[in-house]
Amino acid sequence: MHVTMIGAGYVGLVSGACFADFGHTVSCVDTDARKIEALRRGEIPIYEPGLADLVAANVKAERLFFTTSLTEGLEKAEAVFIAVGTPSRRGDGHADLTYVYQAARDIARAISRYTVVVTKSTVPVGTGDEVERIIRETRPDAEFAVVSNPEFLREGAAIADFKRPDRILVGTEDERAQQVIAELYRPLYLNQSPLLFTSRRTAELTKYAANAFLATKITFINEIADLCEQVGANVQDVARGIGLDNRIGSKFLHAGPGYGGSCFPKDTLALIKTAQDYSAPIRIVETVVSVNDQRKRAMARKVIQALGGTVRGKTVGILGLTFKPNTDDMRDAPSISIITALQDAGAVVRAHDPEGVEQAKLVLDGVDYVDTPYAAAEGAAALVIVTEWDAFRALDLRRIHGLMASPIVVDLRNIYRPDEMAALGFTYQSVGRG
Ligand code: UDX
Repeated sequence: MHVTMIGAGYVGLVSGACFADFGHTVSCVDTDARKIEALRRGEIPIYEPGLADLVAANVKAERLFFTTSLTEGLEKAEAVFIAVGTPSRRGDGHADLTYVYQAARDIARAISRYTVVVTKSTVPVGTGDEVERIIRETRPDAEFAVVSNPEFLREGAAIADFKRPDRILVGTEDERAQQVIAELYRPLYLNQSPLLFTSRRTAELTKYAANAFLATKITFINEIADLCEQVGANVQDVARGIGLDNRIGSKFLHAGPGYGGSCFPKDTLALIKTAQDYSAPIRIVETVVSVNDQRKRAMARKVIQALGGTVRGKTVGILGLTFKPNTDDMRDAPSISIITALQDAGAVVRAHDPEGVEQAKLVLDGVDYVDTPYAAAEGAAALVIVTEWDAFRALDLRRIHGLMASPIVVDLRNIYRPDEMAALGFTYQSVGRG
């Protein structure tokens, strides 16, 4: 089949490369000519494990193309995916749909045959209706259907998530469109991934409900972790104890510094706004958002307390800046709030991250970025583990101990064991472990 992907960002690039890998012919269209040029040279603008090889293989096989021309991209396409950004609108938290509607207008102008228009971007309920209205208004003669097909890709595991999804959600009641989408995803549902057909509005809402539920799960275990610290219980054991109940499930129960990233913060906010607009407020998600915001700053206070109440003039080493491992994404990373609060309290911050430093430099001033975890520990009054990169799980702890001005480790991801750290002579604090 022929597929066009509008937006060569994270979602567009991963989805485009994976569809090409299924054997479809995919054109990735982006208005950013420099990005398209770079992609043609094989340069991938984001860090995602396996993506560069997947793109290269499919470009070589002449199944994946990059272009700035939508007309060219749409000539033969049976389906066109809108995979552009939907950031939070400044000021009110609603999703900003400028790029989605622009894509709809562009599609309307370029459409030349029956085309299934698919929104892959996370968009509020009713956006599909508006996309349909825009295309219909511009081109009353056009033959098309608008489908919602949200993505559930995790950064760092996006290719595996695309190729082995828990489910594929397809929001359309148009039978012809259902057949086109089923054909596109054929290699997956042959492979047992359920294809779920719903109404368009249901699919749009399901994506927000999924992300809000996961954000709630994380926030729940984070608050249980705080209680564990007060009563002398262990949150990892609590998580295991509840997670083995199939009704709860063991995933997304890792206590930490609060969720961040490109999806949960903006999607929870957008869901809250939509729900308020329809006079059906989702108060549990409103609380999750405010608890999570406060938590990030509370983590800085935890570090300050570990240092005896003040960090003024002291060097604090930070391990991990990105919102999670295996990405260079700094969007809403807990490290931003933590580092800013530590700097405000007078600390000198030295930080190491395997992939995130370039992005971090764009959002954090006054940080001394270093190349290794050991350089971050050198002369530090405390070392704070903010992101659980694998490289931090097997540090030479004796060497770290010897390098630090005082051997205090605050492990916000619980990657070390309290008894082992104590045996090595560290003053060790983690999250929700007594
Ligand atoms: C998320 C969803 O998982 C994905 O389905 C959706 O399409 C996009 O948003 P992503 O943002 O890439 O994916 O990362 P994810 O692995 O879900 O983690 C999000 C945040 O939650 C991170 O900051 C992570 O550290 C935090 N988290 C996750 C926890 O603190 N504890 C957990 O148990 C799980």
